[in-house]
Amino acid sequence: MTDSWDTIADWYAGLLRAGSAMHDFNRAVLLDLLPEDLDGHRVLDLGCGEGIIARSAAARGASVVGIDPSPRMIEHAWAAGTGQPGTVVYAVDDGCTLSTVAADSVDWVTAGLSLNNVPDLDAALASVRRVLVARSSLVFTIPHPCFEAPFATWTQVADGAAHRVVGDYLAEGFWRSDNPEGARRAGNRHRMLSTYLAALVRYGFALEAVTEPVPSAQVVVAQPRRAGLPPFLAIRARRA
Ligand SMILES: C[S@@+](CC[C@H](N)C(=O)[O-])C[C@H]1O[C@@H](n2cnc3c(N)ncnc32)[C@H](O)[C@@H]1O
Repeated sequence: MTDSWDTIADWYAGLLRAGSAMHDFNRAVLLDLLPEDLDGHRVLDLGCGEGIIARSAAARGASVVGIDPSPRMIEHAWAAGTGQPGTVVYAVDDGCTLSTVAADSVDWVTAGLSLNNVPDLDAALASVRRVLVARSSLVFTIPHPCFEAPFATWTQVADGAAHRVVGDYLAEGFWRSDNPEGARRAGNRHRMLSTYLAALVRYGFALEAVTEPVPSAQVVVAQPRRAGLPPFLAIRARRA
């Protein structure tokens, strides 16, 4: 059977529930670009998965809608409960259409490690633009496109340190990792850094923040060879 996000949803939810240093770090990086107090704010979490970001936004007081095309992910998200003091509801939907979300209805769109999974970035950004009220923002993380390019691997050099080997940065499109323990066995859409930035400009988003975070101590303990590289790129972009 070919894996998809739906077929690996049980595994993914189990991984995050057990505590994943990388996913906890990703959540922290994304939340750093949001206000501490989201009381009264409406948040759409695009590609919510099992709800790790949605619950955290609700914990800051937001009213959150989480959407994901994987019905099994949405089942896990509902099962994990809502993050008080705000609220969370979930729906099966596609980030490229956001057909369950009304125009001009949210103050923030969050997208943690999900825009790198949508098949059509232009359609997703057009949909995000449609649902955001004017001058509100999209906050997203993606695996760093420069270092997490298709089939990037590691090599050991003489001093014992591992170096990242990136061979296919220019090869945009769908690729699937052959690592049976990795999330990207479900597939991933590689796009160059310039593709993301140019698309944001095209859809009228102005950059407010860009970060390439230093891996947390927990990430380095779990994966020492990642110490010298930012695993994610994080962006906050305002709908002009
Ligand atoms: C790496 S998981 C991230 C989930 C969650 N945001 C998190 O931080 O754990 C990627 C998610 O993107 C979702 N996804 C795949 N295609 C999508 C699409 N077209 N629109 C929205 N989400 C999509 C997958 O179902 C999966 O839940």
